[in-house]
Amino acid sequence: MKIALGCDHGAYEYKEIIKEMLTKEGHEIMDFGTYDTASCDYPDFAYACAKSVSRGENERGIVICGTGIGVSITANKVKGIRCALCSESVSAKLTREHNDSNMLAMGQRTIGIEVMKDIVHVWLNTPFSGEARHQARIAKIHAIEASE
Ligand code: RB5
Repeated sequence: MKIALGCDHGAYEYKEIIKEMLTKEGHEIMDFGTYDTASCDYPDFAYACAKSVSRGENERGIVICGTGIGVSITANKVKGIRCALCSESVSAKLTREHNDSNMLAMGQRTIGIEVMKDIVHVWLNTPFSGEARHQARIAKIHAIEASE
């Protein structure tokens, strides 16, 4: 799968680990930075990732910051993005089944690396349920987005 990856300085370490894991597993990763631990602004990286997903250059996007909150807020400003902030894998499974989320946000300061790896695997491998009630709710989200 083609996956966009991005982080700020607060999550550089985990972003690199997730990038290596996904690359080894055969995914095609587009790394939007940041590329070191120097202080930077998370909106820059989350926005670049989200735009690449909204343009269809990448099927999914994964963004990581200290808490995951800043990057998720940013990504959800981009049209067509449904970014889910997850700190455990049950939410990762349900957001794929119910929300058809196309981006995942997580926090390096709030979860351990093994939990993060688990969330990523579950989120990437769970299909959207396709159920009419969920499709109708997603359509309502997009109607709200279009009306704003
Ligand atoms: C950076 O210090 C921190 O604010 C950022 O990583 C993130 O947690 C913001 O939501």
